[in-house]
Amino acid sequence: MGALGNESEYAAALRAGLVVGLRKQGVLSDARVADAFATVPRHVFVPGVAVEAAYADDVVLMKQDGAGVAISSVSQPSIVALMLEQAGVEPGQRVLEVGSGGYNAALLWELVTPNGAVTTVDIDGEVTERAGATLRTAGYDGVEVVRADGVEGWKGNAPYDRIVVTVTAADVAPAWVDQLAVGGRIVAPLRVRGQTRSLALDLQPDGSLRSRSSVNCGFVAMQGPRAEYERAVRVVGDDVVLRTDQDQEIEAPVLDGPGFVRWTRVLMDRDEPFCQLDLWLASVFEEYCVLAASRAAVKRRLVRPALRWGGAAVAKDGSIAYLTSQAGPKRNLVELGVRAHGPSAVLLAEEVAGQVRHWDSVLRGGPDPVFLVHPASTPDLPEGPHFRTRNCVVTPIWAH
Ligand SMILES: C[S@@+](CC[C@H](N)C(=O)[O-])C[C@H]1O[C@@H](n2cnc3c(N)ncnc32)[C@H](O)[C@@H]1O
Repeated sequence: MGALGNESEYAAALRAGLVVGLRKQGVLSDARVADAFATVPRHVFVPGVAVEAAYADDVVLMKQDGAGVAISSVSQPSIVALMLEQAGVEPGQRVLEVGSGGYNAALLWELVTPNGAVTTVDIDGEVTERAGATLRTAGYDGVEVVRADGVEGWKGNAPYDRIVVTVTAADVAPAWVDQLAVGGRIVAPLRVRGQTRSLALDLQPDGSLRSRSSVNCGFVAMQGPRAEYERAVRVVGDDVVLRTDQDQEIEAPVLDGPGFVRWTRVLMDRDEPFCQLDLWLASVFEEYCVLAASRAAVKRRLVRPALRWGGAAVAKDGSIAYLTSQAGPKRNLVELGVRAHGPSAVLLAEEVAGQVRHWDSVLRGGPDPVFLVHPASTPDLPEGPHFRTRNCVVTPIWAH
């Protein structure tokens, strides 16, 4: 159901091409999710956008704030597919989507049909209006669209078998857990210390959550009175900035010349993603943050980060250590190092370099950790590094 009777064959062909592309990328393997993608007319949900762009594997920006920062979009099909596969939605289930756009709600509707229910909430009235109108146009009148702060969930239709959050969250809102049915699952892009992972979190009998999968991703930031924002600590004006969580107390270090470097002998392919190493460093250092450098700062050698734009850093007691690199033994390889400044530069560089070597020898190429989520008031937390968010404690359990 749902596909428009008069839609062009051209759109249908583009849609079929999108499904083939997503399968090739390896982000779409579930036959029911693939059928949903083959059915829902994405072009209807992005009015005013060329039909070719509607079926590209790309985010479609729908709204920006005054500073030009994206605040609403129709998400990129590949991340939508990954999250729907993480959610494992079954016919007959009740689903809450946080962050509307219409498209994902329609896909969810295809997956819960028959006899299921989909509610989608968005904090922005313009978004709910557009999502409601496009859902009706595409024939998905059954989806309930509500304007609300998604941090509260939506009690009206609870309990839910699945809660799918499509906006970056810095916390697992207690309302989501309260509104989850027994055996339910939350899929949410959780950002801690600058690392965002879409976690599929299964509700456990004791009320805690346990991840069954995690996917590296990026979304627009949550808005509203209880949203938590990343903080920017300016090191050299706007040219060198440290991005930290709202509650991390990190003071700006002074960059004094080239600094001290500890090379690690750890080699990285130039195309290899850093996300697992970043997550490991974020797990072990409470003072982990993300260094962001302008091109000018890199050109002037104010900082020499491993990646063109910056990367992992640890800042404490007025000192900073960040990942740097130098040419490796082959053209495609670089050697990782740690460059440090400040009174504890040598110590901090040694400490971070030790953890880079540990990641390389023990964790590299292995699975991402399993994430356990407990309410902040839990007396006996599982052992391990802890990420403390406003309402919960997230424990990443690495397969050592
Ligand atoms: C990436 S878009 C959602 C994409 C959508 N699910 C789709 O079908 O493509 C994120 C949305 O989250 C909304 N949002 C931000 N903060 C929110 C909050 N506190 N509660 C509910 N929605 C929120 C934004 O207004 C934006 O429309």
